[in-house]
Amino acid sequence: MELSAALFGRRTIKDFKPDAVPAELLARALTAGLWAQNHKLTQPWRFAILGPATHRALAEDFAAGQAAAAGPDAEAVRAKAREKILSKPCVVAVSQRLAGPPVQRREDYAAVACAIQNIQLAAWAEGVGMQWSSGKVIGAPGTYEILSLDPAEEEVVGLLFFGYPARVPAAPAREGLAAVSRTLP
Ligand SMILES: Cc1cc2nc3c(=O)[nH]c(=O)nc-3n(C[C@H](O)[C@H](O)[C@H](O)COP(=O)(O)O)c2cc1C
Repeated sequence: MELSAALFGRRTIKDFKPDAVPAELLARALTAGLWAQNHKLTQPWRFAILGPATHRALAEDFAAGQAAAAGPDAEAVRAKAREKILSKPCVVAVSQRLAGPPVQRREDYAAVACAIQNIQLAAWAEGVGMQWSSGKVIGAPGTYEILSLDPAEEEVVGLLFFGYPARVPAAPAREGLAAVSRTLP
């Protein structure tokens, strides 16, 4: 795939076919993340590729949190939340190794984001879609325990949901360059 086709055609994918993502393909995409720019070569990214038991545990924990916050329809909310996570064919948790002073932590977060962009583009070039999920799931109680992470050492930056797209959404509109740039003398 041409670089420009990947850059402009890449979309966040939320609806996946049930097909599994081949392990070798996933490894190639994650390896693209290792080549992201990172200041002082801190290489702050860490990846946890979820096997079926961990995937299920995460889905149950997320569903329990959602159900606890729901009203009388708690069981329906639980089932929907569980299915939301279980319907993702492949889940990778990306975390940032926490080290150094605040300026390094800020730069390391940026580097992890660069890695995620590389990963998404590399997967896209092989026909696999991805969603970066940063919402309630990564902050849900139990997530760190399920992932065997010490929050003092690593911070979860996102769950990456991978799969073959069942639907590719239309590109959301972007502001034009003129709206967000200015030329200085
Ligand atoms: C830091 C970050 C966090 C994100 N978290 C979520 C999320 O929690 N849920 C979600 O659906 N998309 C999430 N996204 C994806 C954006 O919603 C998506 O990029 C945006 O809608 C534009 O769509 P596109 O990626 O197809 O261009 C996140 C993106 C970034 C950069």
